[in-house]
Amino acid sequence: MYSTLLIQIENGICTITINRPDKLNALNKTVINELSAAVDEIYTNPNIKTAIITGAGAKAFVAGADISEFLELNANDGEELARRGQQFVFDKIENCPKPVVAAVNGFALGGGCELALACHFIYACENAKFGQPEVNLGLIPGYGGSQRLTQLVGRNRSMELLMTGNMITAKEAMEYGMVNKMINADELLQKVRETLLLIQSKAPVAISKVIECVNNFDHNQQGYDFEIKKFGECFATEDLKEGASAFLEKRKANFKGK
Ligand code: COA
Repeated sequence: MYSTLLIQIENGICTITINRPDKLNALNKTVINELSAAVDEIYTNPNIKTAIITGAGAKAFVAGADISEFLELNANDGEELARRGQQFVFDKIENCPKPVVAAVNGFALGGGCELALACHFIYACENAKFGQPEVNLGLIPGYGGSQRLTQLVGRNRSMELLMTGNMITAKEAMEYGMVNKMINADELLQKVRETLLLIQSKAPVAISKVIECVNNFDHNQQGYDFEIKKFGECFATEDLKEGASAFLEKRKANFKGK
């Protein structure tokens, strides 16, 4: 069904593997279109509870947008490329009501770093490298990198990464707060799946509200007000009644996601 993605659905976990290893999984138009469709499927397919995004091969997660498509573009085309990518892939991943985790198995550069940042959190293998090297090409990030990176690592680290185009190691990315866990390459997917199975045992509606609240983070009262609203909404779910009853009856909860 897809020419640039491999999709596997097992135990409720959808693993999306970007599969252009000879081009270090660079994001060309087809990958972006297919990722958009694959993310739509995460939203709509009831058999998918959580998802992983990773790259094929041992070398790269994604080495960025496909540079070979750049030379033909004018300013309007460039704007359209960024808008389409943000709207149809990156924002949809960030706002997905089901957890989407990046398993970074090598280079995560440019659009690859932005793709990992759009996921809800990141596990990386020990030899993963992160960077926003767009300035080397006379470019800046277009898939939300300047915004998500700044929110995650802070203004000055973001400025340095974006201005130097330097790569950082997985260990440095952990210190920066970009990567949650660093794992041996052979065990990376297995460890992500273990965490996702744990998350799948929790109340799905509550999980989706966690995503909404964190994405609506705001220093001012707005974020706190949003949380109050979402907290209240939990009391209208069957899951809350089931979870609280199960605790009081000293049994395991059986959540329905309603
Ligand atoms: N777009 C298009 N093709 C890319 C690519 C990209 N972003 N990144 C890598 N490739 C291709 C290379 O052109 C090469 O193709 P070829 O074998 O047909 O010549 C292949 O992938 C392997 O890459 P190569 O550069 O030979 O590997 P390397 O180990 O020497 O270097 C990198 C690895 C990641 C350091 C290097 O590929 C690189 O800098 N890539 C571009 C990163 C970037 O600027 N991303 C932001 C884009 S906006």
